Amino acid sequence: RSIALIGAPIEVGTSEPGALMGPAALRTAGLVRALAELGHAITDRGDVAPDGPAGARGLDGVAAWTRALCRVVEAVLDEGALPLTAGGDHSLSLGSVDGVMRHCARRGQPVFVLWLDAHADFNTPATSPSGNVHGMPLAALCGEPGFPPLFAEPAPAPLPPAHVHLFGLRSIDAGERALVTARRVGVTDMRTIDEFGVVAPLRRVLDRVAAQGAHLHVSLDIDFLDPSIAPAVGTTVPGGATFREAHLIMEMLHDSGLVRSLDVVELNPFLDERGRSARVLVELVASLFGRRILDRPTAPIQAV
Ligand code: ARG
Ligand code: MN
Ligand code: MN
Ligand code: MN
Repeated sequence: RSIALIGAPIEVGTSEPGALMGPAALRTAGLVRALAELGHAITDRGDVAPDGPAGARGLDGVAAWTRALCRVVEAVLDEGALPLTAGGDHSLSLGSVDGVMRHCARRGQPVFVLWLDAHADFNTPATSPSGNVHGMPLAALCGEPGFPPLFAEPAPAPLPPAHVHLFGLRSIDAGERALVTARRVGVTDMRTIDEFGVVAPLRRVLDRVAAQGAHLHVSLDIDFLDPSIAPAVGTTVPGGATFREAHLIMEMLHDSGLVRSLDVVELNPFLDERGRSARVLVELVASLFGRRILDRPTAPIQAV
């Protein structure tokens, strides 16, 4: 298939510098080559630049990035390609998901967002303990009040919170927990994964997406992974997904055939150890795009 790599070197949504080097590190780790080797037509569209003066921290700076990213992602989808937005901090998903929603609104297609992350990223400016916008994108996308205008006019209808599924959650602030609960956001937290593994909960999500005929957008925050395999992130939380869990999720996503857009976010190469986190991400993305151990699907286990 056609894939467009979009670099989003944004770090104005965080307090820890370094995420702006993320797209460069993913390229250095061989992201384009890995996908080309799988037979995909991948084009690197280079890095997006924000609308207006670059570098403003906080919501103003994020709004400038959101508008620019949204246009590119929507244009890529309109061409029939799959946008792979490489960050950059998680506030970039305001732009990528906005672009997805605009594309899908014109076709009357629902949008479903799978958020692979240690965090809920459902704070508002009023609930955020840090003021960092990378902890807020889902609340803004779901239309929570209290945000300045972030999206270009006319803004699309908000994302229904029931069309968001948080997967891997293990760190949540008090105010955002209340919101996630009240809005009925879908959640598979680490407790659930420990009890049931990743397969059963993910299958339920994928079945719902398929039944709705929805566009599936996957947003992969590197802190979804355990810090022992991916230390290059400013917001590590212990107890994350193992390489094997994450890899299996990617394989299931590939086999589902449902993924239409992807973010890879929060890689901070300044905190990495000899590029290992960037390399893990490239491995995972390759699995999502069809790399497999044998050239055939897993054989079904015979019932005994
Ligand atoms: N919940 C914390 C906050 O709002 C951490 C957010 C981390 N988000 C992320 N995309 N890494 O500040
Ligand atoms: Mn995040
Ligand atoms: Mn996170
Ligand atoms: Mn595997």
